[in-house]
Parts: sequence; structure tokens; C-alpha cells
Amino acid sequence: MPNDSYLNDMDLSRLFRPTAEAQGLPGLCYTDPDYHRLEQKRLFAEGWPAVAVGAELPRPGDLLPISVAGQPVLLVRDREGAVRAFHNICSHRGVVLVERAARGQPVVRCPYHSWAYGLDGRLLKTPDIGGSGKHTVPGLDPTALGLKPVRCGQWGDVIFVNLSGTAPELADWLDPLIRRWQHVDLGLLRHAGTAEFEVAADWKIAVENAVEFYHLPWVHPDLNSYSGADVHYFCNAGDRFAGTASAGYRPGRPAGETLPPFPDLTPELFARAEYPIVFPNMHFGLMADHAFAHILYPAGPGRHRQRFHLYVIGDAAMDPRLAAARAETLERWRAINAEDIGIVESLQLGRASEAYGGGRFSPAQDYVSHFFMRSIARHLGYQPPADAPSFSGAEEHTAPIRYSA
Ligand code: FES
Ligand SMILES: [Fe+2]
Repeated sequence: MPNDSYLNDMDLSRLFRPTAEAQGLPGLCYTDPDYHRLEQKRLFAEGWPAVAVGAELPRPGDLLPISVAGQPVLLVRDREGAVRAFHNICSHRGVVLVERAARGQPVVRCPYHSWAYGLDGRLLKTPDIGGSGKHTVPGLDPTALGLKPVRCGQWGDVIFVNLSGTAPELADWLDPLIRRWQHVDLGLLRHAGTAEFEVAADWKIAVENAVEFYHLPWVHPDLNSYSGADVHYFCNAGDRFAGTASAGYRPGRPAGETLPPFPDLTPELFARAEYPIVFPNMHFGLMADHAFAHILYPAGPGRHRQRFHLYVIGDAAMDPRLAAARAETLERWRAINAEDIGIVESLQLGRASEAYGGGRFSPAQDYVSHFFMRSIARHLGYQPPADAPSFSGAEEHTAPIRYSA
């Protein structure tokens, strides 16, 4: 496992220059297995990655196995309806307990020797442990052999875990974003569909692409025709959450319908759409009439999976009459994301080139990509030079940017 000096031995000083002079993370941060292991540990085991959404395990007894920083974790909806997380291994010989999502299970049963755990993690049954027909054995205390809990929290419908147990409270971690979006009740979000993608590129490249709108006219000409870059600006919340935003959002009429918006928005808030990265691995879009949680799952250096979850606002938006409007909204986002994937995979190939030295940034257009890379380096333990410009500079970028292509 590489240590702090691994990163500090890399010359990242150019990353911490002002955006117009800076160079990005070097190619090995997208291709190197040692770097990948360090990143998995620091960002995904010691941080609060987004790992799932509640709609993936909606009812008590629903089980969802996931992998976090290379470790098997099990999400469980317990009898009271709360989501819990456990290490997904049996206390007996360590086999992975649940390999596929399952619904409505009364217990978590090990496939190997059938030890059974309650939805609260307690070990309930150890069949034949003392020999045929003997289900207990002296010296083996079941109360000490429950599933090992993993720290878990929820914001809106999104589930986060902190494997190390050492991160700040989730509410404190998300606090800048929670305060920025006080004008909406995320409890109104209703899950309206999922799109999945397999991408032959490092997850960070997908983030970098998601937080710039420079490419809109060329990669998404259709999107650009109704949501032009000239009404976009950069938003940021604290020193971790930044992304693109629009001051001119107008809800479409998917399938000829209108999706109900959040209640009581002022005209200015109604027209505001924001798409920050919830550091490190979720792109979250908040619009007046829908939202999305787009979660990226690293799958080794140079590969990741994505799950894009669409949300609409309130029970009225789930009316069967609006099914086509919801489906069309999801399809529109799926198509936009599909347009990005070819570019994202091409960027991955470029990162493997010896000629790649981190590239350069447009200060007007690539500000958040640069911000994100600096966040990565800092959270990995890199010590920026003492004269590095401060992180709060994103606040200067909240006005719409005039676009002149
Ligand atoms: S490994 Fe699970 S019961 Fe033996
Ligand atoms: Fe894009």
C-alpha cells in the first residue's frame, strides 16, 4: 500500500497554481493500480462515498450487497424500515453472505453452513454447530458473533457509508450542501427510474466531464439548444461540493405533460438548476421539477460503473398519468450521458499516453474540474505548497458565463 509520501513524491505543485497556469493530475492517477488502492482507501474507505439509494431496497427484509473500497458490504432494510450496513461476511468462516439483491428476507442466511442473522445483525441460529442436532456449543457466545456493523447514513434517498468509522458526522460532512438547498424538501423526492452504464474509464474522468459545460455545443448539441451554456454558472458549497448550474432553467414538457415542481419556489429559485459533485463519487442534479442522483462506482483503475437515479417531486408526480413524462425525462438524461461516454473513454486512453502531463484548464470553463482535482489531492493527503491559492475561489464564479463559440 503506498503511503503519504507516494503522493507527495509526485510533483503536484502545478495543480495548485491558479487555474489558468495549472496542470491537472498526472496520467498515473487514472491508470496505476497502486494509486488506485490509495484512492480507494482514502476517499472510499475513510470518506463518505454514496453507495446506493433507498429505492434499491424499499421494504423491510430487502438486502443489497455492494462493494466499498474492495470490501463486501451488505445493506439491509430492517423491520423498522431503517437502512443498516454490515460487513457482508459470515462470522463463522468468512464467506460472503449475500451475493445478489434479495427482497423480503426474514433473516440473512449464510449459504455455507446456514448460520442465520437477524435484520439487526444478531446471530440467531447456528445449526448443528455442536454435532448433528446440537445447535449450540459451550464456549461459543452467539451474542459476540453478530454481523459487524458499518457506519451508514442517508441524505434524501441516497445512502452513504464510512467503512473506517473515522469520518466526521455525515450531517457535518454534507452541511454546506444541506444549507445551500434549504429551500427544498428532499423528503419529497420519489424514485422514478434508473439507468445503468459500464464505462471503460476511471471514475474521476466522468466527474471532470460532468462538471464542465464547455463541451455542450459539440457533444450535446440537442441539450445545448434548450439549455445553453450562456446561462450557466459554477456553484460551490464549502470546499468539497462544486459543479455547474443554470440560472435559466425552464422545465420541459416531457410527453406533453408538466411534472409538478417543489412547492413555494420563488421565480428565481424556480429557474435555478444545480449539478454539484457530492464529493467524491456522486453527481447530483437539482431542478424545480425533478432531480437525479448519479452514482459512480470505481471498478479498478480505468473502469467504473454508473447508476443514474431519476427523482420526481411528491406523490402527485408518481401518478400513472405521468408515467410517459417520467420515462421520457429518464430517457433524455440517459441519452445525454450516453453521449458523454465515448468522450470519457477517449480521455482514459489519452491518460495512458506518456505525452500526457496533466493537460491545461480554461479558467472560465474548467474551473470545477480543477477544483475537483485539488480536492482529490488534498483528501489523499497531499500537502499543497504554502503559497497555493485558497480553495474558496469558486465563489468568484457564480455569475453566468458568456459563451462565445
Ligand atoms: S461460513 Fe457461514 S455458516 Fe459457515
Ligand atoms: Fe456532457
